[in-house]
Amino acid sequence: MAGRAAVILAAGQGTRMRSALPKVLHQVGGRAMVDWSVALARSIGCEKIVVVCSPSGQAVQNHIQATLGAEAIAIQDPPLGTGHAVLAAKDALAGFEGDMVVLYGDTPLIPAEAVEALFDLLSDGATVGVLGFDAVDPGAYGRLITNGAGALESIVEAKEATPEQLDVTLCNSGVMAADAETMFELLSRVTNDNAKGEYYLTDIVALARGDEKPCGVVVCDEADVLGVNSRVELAQAERAFQVKMRRAVLASGVTMTAPETVFFSHDTEIENDVLIEPSVVFAPGVSIKSGTRIRAFSHLEGASVAENCEIGPYVRLRPGAVLEQGVKIGNFVEVKKTRMGAGAKANHLSYLGDGDVGAGANIGAGTIFCNYDGFLKYQTKVGKGAFVGSNSSLVAPVTIGDGAYVGSGSVVTKDVEDNALAVARGRQMQKSGWATAFRDKMAAIKAARKKG
Ligand code: UD1
Ligand code: MG
Repeated sequence: MAGRAAVILAAGQGTRMRSALPKVLHQVGGRAMVDWSVALARSIGCEKIVVVCSPSGQAVQNHIQATLGAEAIAIQDPPLGTGHAVLAAKDALAGFEGDMVVLYGDTPLIPAEAVEALFDLLSDGATVGVLGFDAVDPGAYGRLITNGAGALESIVEAKEATPEQLDVTLCNSGVMAADAETMFELLSRVTNDNAKGEYYLTDIVALARGDEKPCGVVVCDEADVLGVNSRVELAQAERAFQVKMRRAVLASGVTMTAPETVFFSHDTEIENDVLIEPSVVFAPGVSIKSGTRIRAFSHLEGASVAENCEIGPYVRLRPGAVLEQGVKIGNFVEVKKTRMGAGAKANHLSYLGDGDVGAGANIGAGTIFCNYDGFLKYQTKVGKGAFVGSNSSLVAPVTIGDGAYVGSGSVVTKDVEDNALAVARGRQMQKSGWATAFRDKMAAIKAARKKG
């Protein structure tokens, strides 16, 4: 297989987003849009990935520097069109031999198979392969002009198109592939003699045809090539991602009673025979194993959940929550950076942060792991089979031994031995008959005041 490279165009200003954050850093499915294209490039085996940034797009450059390294950044200055933008990546690809694909930082949902099909076109002899789609409203998209046999002849931008060409609904997604050397040779011949005065990437098709080289089209769904220019389109892309993800999750053997109310991230992993009730949100970094049930109105992020757990309703799992097999976490419990051993339970109204709970332990209603003193965070350990009575505060750092009991309402500041009972609260006293005497006295006072 020829080597592969990707050039991701991300030099646009994204003004219609009306945002301090550059457009390509806005997220879909919990991942920055530019990272979708990077992930796509990786998934199809691109050994070189170059992101074309604008000189003023410091935040995008910082992001790419942190994720791919400085060598992945190419600067286009000033922006003179899509063809000019791809040429800006030429130096960064010096020495690369093989096929390259042009992707976009604002087009997050392109399926890997569509780009694989473009590379297949190249190995079948096409000089340029273009990803097209049948547009419901072709509007300003470039039109793919094919000959009688369906082979691609040229791409005509809407501004340059004749009325007959404007009737064509097969449109250019912008994604195209060619051998890198050929791509840059064709681009070196592109001029800006057109309606916008820009160097159009799309002109490489007509140039290749002028050399009698064949070009081809791969057609995909319009939703797959949705580009984001505004918050409305960002919301559309999010919706398209969620629809696709819900279908995939259902198809993999997960039950959802109201899938349209469940929200996933790009990396959510759910095994078959998980049951998800309505209104559950999976922020990034969640994996759920078979047989687990996630009840309504729960929010999970950065959490790993083993087999046969029961979570919710109304649970919050935060990053570092690790639930082993058969754990139960009930309503209004928040778990952060805490391992719950197999079969452990926290069924009501608790905060478990920076902890480690042994297998089979029971955390009573209203238990709080007091993990923070305003400066640092500390660990709470609860041993295997321990029982923490309701409304207890475990002031970290503290360890409750295996099999120990903590009496309800305790504020535990010292370690508790294995199998001991710790009670740390005011001792109960009783005064017999006090209430009767109190009521009699107060009734007499009230009656005297009314008379007077
Ligand atoms: C482009 C295509 C059009 C296609 C459409 C799909 C060309 C000439 N036209 O049109 O056929 O139907 O996309 O959405 O390619 N960019 C740069 N530097 C530049 C110019 C653009 O990085 O100098 C980036 C933009 O940030 C954007 C992308 O390239 O992400 C496309 O540019 P845009 O100006 O939106 O092209 P369109 O006119 O929409
Ligand atoms: Mg555009």
